Amino acid sequence: MKQRILFVCLGNICRSPAAEALLLNKLEKLNLIDQFDVDSAGTGNWHVGKLADSRMREAASNRGISIKSRGRQISFDDFSQFDLILTMDNDNLKQVQSLAKALSTTSKAKIKPLLSYSNQTDLIEVPDPYYGGDKGFDQVLDLLQVAIDGLIEDIRVN
Ligand code: 4NP
Repeated sequence: MKQRILFVCLGNICRSPAAEALLLNKLEKLNLIDQFDVDSAGTGNWHVGKLADSRMREAASNRGISIKSRGRQISFDDFSQFDLILTMDNDNLKQVQSLAKALSTTSKAKIKPLLSYSNQTDLIEVPDPYYGGDKGFDQVLDLLQVAIDGLIEDIRVN
């Protein structure tokens, strides 16, 4: 059975599509891509259908990572479609938890902050780079990369 992982941020054009692309890249390198379904979504709907922010795509491309996904908003179906929902900040976490609570059936998905998989930071939130300078995108990618490595490690031992 495939493991199904959904990354969630606010707009689904910066942090969560980058996390999705980093995980896909790593899974491809490890030859594990067939065992996973990976996606991302936003709690907001402003950027539905759009490519990721060009600043994030460029920062990722400089590391050899291609971000191809298009923005979409999280839906109730996601709580039965995915095994693991990984959020970027406390706001996303609260929103996703309250959506899960609002479901009439219990949510199957485990909901966790992505940075709970990082062993290299005390941060519990991935900062939102949208209104910051270009450097913010690289910092976000650094944080995401370590957390994705931790996630893969966790999946492999459990
Ligand atoms: P993201 O960043 O949640 O990492 O995709 C944002 C993108 C857009 C907006 C906010 C955050 N916005 O307000 O449009």
